[in-house]
Amino acid sequence: MIVIAHLSDPHLDGTSTPRDRLRRITAYLREFSTPVDVVLVSGDLADHGLPAEYDELAAELPTGVPVFVLPGNHDVSSPLRVGLADYLDSPGDGHPIHQLREAAGARFVLVDSTVPGEDHGLLSEDSLAWLDAVLREPFDGPVFVAMHHPPLVMHHPVMDQWLLRSQEALEAVLVDKTVTAILTGHVHNPVVTTFAGHPVLGAPGIRSTVTLPFEPAPASGTIVDTDAAPGLALHIHYPGEPLQTFYRFP
Ligand SMILES: [Fe+2]
Ligand SMILES: [Fe+2]
Repeated sequence: MIVIAHLSDPHLDGTSTPRDRLRRITAYLREFSTPVDVVLVSGDLADHGLPAEYDELAAELPTGVPVFVLPGNHDVSSPLRVGLADYLDSPGDGHPIHQLREAAGARFVLVDSTVPGEDHGLLSEDSLAWLDAVLREPFDGPVFVAMHHPPLVMHHPVMDQWLLRSQEALEAVLVDKTVTAILTGHVHNPVVTTFAGHPVLGAPGIRSTVTLPFEPAPASGTIVDTDAAPGLALHIHYPGEPLQTFYRFP
């Protein structure tokens, strides 16, 4: 059995509110009778991409288990690479931060879907070629593709501006590949859908939850509900069985 704790969008900024919300998740994980096998944090790690924000996150991340991180649109490559160097294995010194990692018998293809200075996602031809090549490598175990921007259309007047724009090209890469699931963040919602025939499993936003256009407006008066509980996904894989995902809001 492999248990992946999938966290997303902590948006740490040096203030107590996002830090305390992340601590609700990490404190919950510390209470497990058996530690999870992997922790994945799928982007928007820091709110402003500042060095101090990455130092703050490094001090808050769980210890004793493999922790993988990937960038979101709020992150900045160079300070992320410096501040979270202990959690990265990616050649180069700037953007993009792609990684191919393995833990607990599973492979994690961590794709940088960000565009520096922009909020929407995009995969360049080079990024797609890298993804295509690593997914062609034979691997005996579950293979997870993780990226900040989910490949979906929310039909949301705000969020749709900031989703992944290279979905057709990504679909062409993924459609004939063996992928256990695509793990995403960014939309600050526990969302489940499919893409190119594979499950897409989005983690809740730790910092906040984005409401849908037909839901009651949050107290903030915007689409961002900062009172909704922070959450995470637990992806559980048993050999030979379909993946199971449980969402928790501790
Ligand atoms: Fe975010
Ligand atoms: Fe984001």
